[in-house]
Amino acid sequence: MKSFYVTTPIYYVNDLPHIGHIYTTTVADTLARYRRLAGDDVYFLTGTDEHGQNIERAARKEGIAPIELADRVVSRYFALRDRLGFSNDDFIRTTQERHYKGVEAIIRRIQETGDFYTATHEGWYCSPCETFYTEKELAAENTCPVHGSAVEWKSEENIFFRLSKYQQPLLDWYDTHPESVRPATRLNEVRSFVESGLRDLSVSRANVEWAIPFPGFPGQTVYVWLDALTNYLSALGFGGEDGVLYRKHWEEGDTRLHLIGKDILRFHAVYWPAFLLSAGLPLPHTVFAHGWWYRDGKKMSKSTGNIVRPDDLIDRFGADSVRYFLLREMVFGQDASYSDEAFIDRYNADLANTLGNTVSRLVTLSRGAFGGKTPPVPCDDNPLVEAARRVVPEYRAAMDELAFSRALEALWKLLNEASQYLMTREPWKVVKEEGPSERLSRILWNGLESVRIVATGLLPFMPRVAPQVLAAIGVTDVPASWSALEWGATPNGAELPEPKPIFPRIDKKEYLGAAPAPAPKAARSASPVEEKALIAIDKFFETELKVGTVLTAERVPKSEKLIKLQVDLAEETPRQIVAGIGLAYQPEELVGKQVAVVANLQPAKLMGIESQGMVLAASIDGKPVLLHPDKAVPAGTQVK
Ligand code: MSP
Repeated sequence: MKSFYVTTPIYYVNDLPHIGHIYTTTVADTLARYRRLAGDDVYFLTGTDEHGQNIERAARKEGIAPIELADRVVSRYFALRDRLGFSNDDFIRTTQERHYKGVEAIIRRIQETGDFYTATHEGWYCSPCETFYTEKELAAENTCPVHGSAVEWKSEENIFFRLSKYQQPLLDWYDTHPESVRPATRLNEVRSFVESGLRDLSVSRANVEWAIPFPGFPGQTVYVWLDALTNYLSALGFGGEDGVLYRKHWEEGDTRLHLIGKDILRFHAVYWPAFLLSAGLPLPHTVFAHGWWYRDGKKMSKSTGNIVRPDDLIDRFGADSVRYFLLREMVFGQDASYSDEAFIDRYNADLANTLGNTVSRLVTLSRGAFGGKTPPVPCDDNPLVEAARRVVPEYRAAMDELAFSRALEALWKLLNEASQYLMTREPWKVVKEEGPSERLSRILWNGLESVRIVATGLLPFMPRVAPQVLAAIGVTDVPASWSALEWGATPNGAELPEPKPIFPRIDKKEYLGAAPAPAPKAARSASPVEEKALIAIDKFFETELKVGTVLTAERVPKSEKLIKLQVDLAEETPRQIVAGIGLAYQPEELVGKQVAVVANLQPAKLMGIESQGMVLAASIDGKPVLLHPDKAVPAGTQVK
């Protein structure tokens, strides 16, 4: 039996859970359930990150102790676990004693290697990030590159970790383990960050009290990230007396997988493996960074009031529909956007129509023709057997690659083929012409069997509803292994309960309270050409516009929006342009594309990186859509 350890990030307790938080846990839960059915010895961990200045401050604001705040938020996570049916084996809280032991143990090991030293730590400090920045890293007007808020100059005696020593070992790890960081674009991002040079890292704080005391250094507390990352070991008993779980799932583990969001990649793919290398402990097999959820294409934030809260969604649509939407809508690794409309469309199309209607049609026909039972004669020679033999391996392969939306697509291929099959065989006519004939039995059985396979594949995704679908088609034993994906297990002559709607259709108009929102329009001025906006043609020609070909594209570290491009404008060297298009484009889709460039702009620095021009884009609600020439033209061609 292979061991399979899957973790989510541990969530800060100064914020209530939102859709982005439950997303990773839903993915981890789906995967854990999938691997259990594959026969693996799974350990699935989630938890909360409870120390640090931010939490201390949030608690103070409410006039309560940090631990009270933590308890309150943890109870929300527990309630969501129950509502969403998460099957985590453990829930770690960094305020637990077992965690303190784990942190002390890893620090002791790093200390033995000689990788800590004390020094004065100076820099621009962002308290929401709990991180020091160099001047170069700051955003415009000396603000935090992540939060855009003011930073303060700080100077204190700290303990440093020799991160620089691990630059080459980390690069070697990435090179010899292409699965170490996924998707591949993230591996490239991390590699270039490490290649650009690693500075030693301050791993203690002198003035943060709500933290773990740094062993051996009175007055210093442990840096939140060293504290937090160690949860992956302390939850397994590392540093405690009983090391059985630790040995099984970490030291000798067959799979150690961390699922995280893209914003915490550097901590997991650089700092964490460096700490582990120093402590002489095995590294994770894979750190997988997924994208971000946006709302209606925009970043969610408290100030905009557009945060999607899981409880609202569950109240309105049901827990398993929420799980389905999250895993179907987001390509694992890429960004996605939530909107009520997208949710309802997806629900109605996939669940109410394709799955729900196929089930109720088949059940009603079978009950009517065969005395309330499943058809008596099975069938294993028909186009659906072929389809199932194609689709099941596709589903399995996608799940093994963590391509969850693709796995669901595969299942829906089979459903679509089944509904096509029923359309051509017309069992509703056959029953009238032949009554409960053998032919009718075979047709309906084929349909039910396809649904059975789909519902079986859905078990990890919809752990409560998939068994309901199975029960609706007469399968009362919930499958316990993937052998249930083989064709042929629908029982003959089994009782079929009276059909109940499992996925009632949502009336979109009624639900949204009005006609669906119109497609976004560009802002229009009152008159098409306002006088004050008119300029002479020579003014326009002051702007030098050219077509350029994108040679390379990479994300600017610590920024979600910025992508650094090298653009060929047929000049001596390519132009470096930093474009704010990162929420709408992935770097890899830009390479080779032709773009319109403002070529005579004064250079500007964005997050310390020089930008020598600007790419043009249409802007819909702040979301950029790049402009391309109608046909390919030589790089450097003038636009006029
Ligand atoms: N406590 C740290 C993680 C420590 S792990 C050793 C932390 N916590 S967090 O609560 O701020 O974020 C937890 C996770 O939620 C991160 O993986 C983050 O990427 C994810 N998300 C937060 N907002 C998100 C979206 N809008 N969309 C998807 N996930 C996002 O960071």
